[in-house]
Amino acid sequence: MRLADTRPPFAGLANLSEAALAALPTPCYLLDEAQLRRNGELLLGVQQRTGCKILLAQKAFSNFNVYPVLAPYLAGTEASGLYESRLGKEELPEKENHVFCAAYRADEFAELLQYADHIVFNSPSQLAKFGPAAKAAGKSVGLRLNPECSTQEGHAIYDPCAPGSRLGTTRAQWDAAVQADPALPELLDGLHFHTLCEQDADALALTLAAVEAKFGDLLPRMKWLNLGGGHHITRPDYDLATLEKCITGTQEKYGVQVYLEPGEAWALNAGYLVTTVLDTLQNGQTHLAILDMSAACHTPDVIEILPGTLPKIIEKLSGKLPVPLIAGGLMTDKCDIVSALQAGALCASTSEETLWEV
Ligand SMILES: Cc1ncc(COP(=O)(O)O)c(C=O)c1O
Repeated sequence: MRLADTRPPFAGLANLSEAALAALPTPCYLLDEAQLRRNGELLLGVQQRTGCKILLAQKAFSNFNVYPVLAPYLAGTEASGLYESRLGKEELPEKENHVFCAAYRADEFAELLQYADHIVFNSPSQLAKFGPAAKAAGKSVGLRLNPECSTQEGHAIYDPCAPGSRLGTTRAQWDAAVQADPALPELLDGLHFHTLCEQDADALALTLAAVEAKFGDLLPRMKWLNLGGGHHITRPDYDLATLEKCITGTQEKYGVQVYLEPGEAWALNAGYLVTTVLDTLQNGQTHLAILDMSAACHTPDVIEILPGTLPKIIEKLSGKLPVPLIAGGLMTDKCDIVSALQAGALCASTSEETLWEV
C-alpha cells in the first residue's frame, strides 16, 4: 500500500481568506490542526493494523499547546533528556514516557526517574552506571544499538552508523562489555536503534536485517524493540506496506513489542512560517524580497567558507552546494582572492582594505 498524497501545496490554507492571513501578526508559525490530525490518523492506522506503538519524538516537535490534538493518536513521548521527559510527563501524564540520552548526568538521574518509564542507554558503561538504579525504580531499561548499516549518503556527520560514531553500541563493544561484566544483559528489557533520517521503509528493512544479523541472538529475551525515528511515514508516497511488514514480522518472530519514535512525521506539512514582504528590489538579474523574518539558519542564500584560503575545498563544495560560496578569512594577498574565485567562490570577503579593489 502506498499513500498517494493528492493535496495541492498549501492545501491546509484553503479555508483561510487572504484577509484572515493578512490579519496575522508576522512573523509567526501557523499550525494546521486538520493536517496534524490527518498525520495522527495515519500513524494511528499503522498502530492499529500492526499492534506497534508510536511515540512523539519531542526534539522535532515540542509545541505542547497542540499535544491535546495529537494525544488520541500517540502512545507516548520520546525525550532526549531531562526537560523533554518532564514536558511529556506534565503535558501527557497518562502516556508512556521514553527517554534516550547519549549520556545521563548523575545529578539529574534521580529527577529523571520521576518522569520516565522507559530509559535507553547509549553505551554499556552508561547501562552499568545507571541501569541498576533505573531497574530498582521499576523502569524498563534499554540499550541503543549501532547496527553499523549506513543507509544515508552525504551526511556522514549526522549518520549514527558512520565510522567512529558515538551513537549506539556496536556488537564488538557489547561483546567486550559482557565479557568484563557478565551480569550486564540481565539489566536489559529492550533494544533501540535510530539510524534513519527522512527515509522510506526500504531503508528500515535494510537496517532491520542488519540488526538481526548482528544482534538477533539478543532479541528473543527482550520485551521491546524501538526502531527509532527518521521514518517519513506521513510523506506522500511513503511505502506503508513495507513498514508494516517490518513491524509485524519482527513482533511475530521475536515476541517483542515494537516501538517507533518519529518526530517530523507527526508534524510534516502541517505548518507554515508566515511572513510579510516588506520591500522588493532588483539588483541586476536578481529579484529580491526583504521579509520580516530570516530563514538563514535553515536555508542560507549563500555560505561563507572560513578560511577562504582553501581553494581545493572551495572547488569541491562549489560543485556540491546549491548556493553560492563566499570565501572569507585569512586572505592576505591578491593571490588568495584569485585562487578562491577560480575555485568557484562567488566573491571574497576580507577586512584587508588594500584588497578591496582587486
Ligand atoms: C533518538 C532519536 N529518536 C527519534 C528522533 C526523531 O527523528 P525524526 O524527527 O527524523 O523522525 C531523533 C532525531 O534526531 C532521535 O535522535
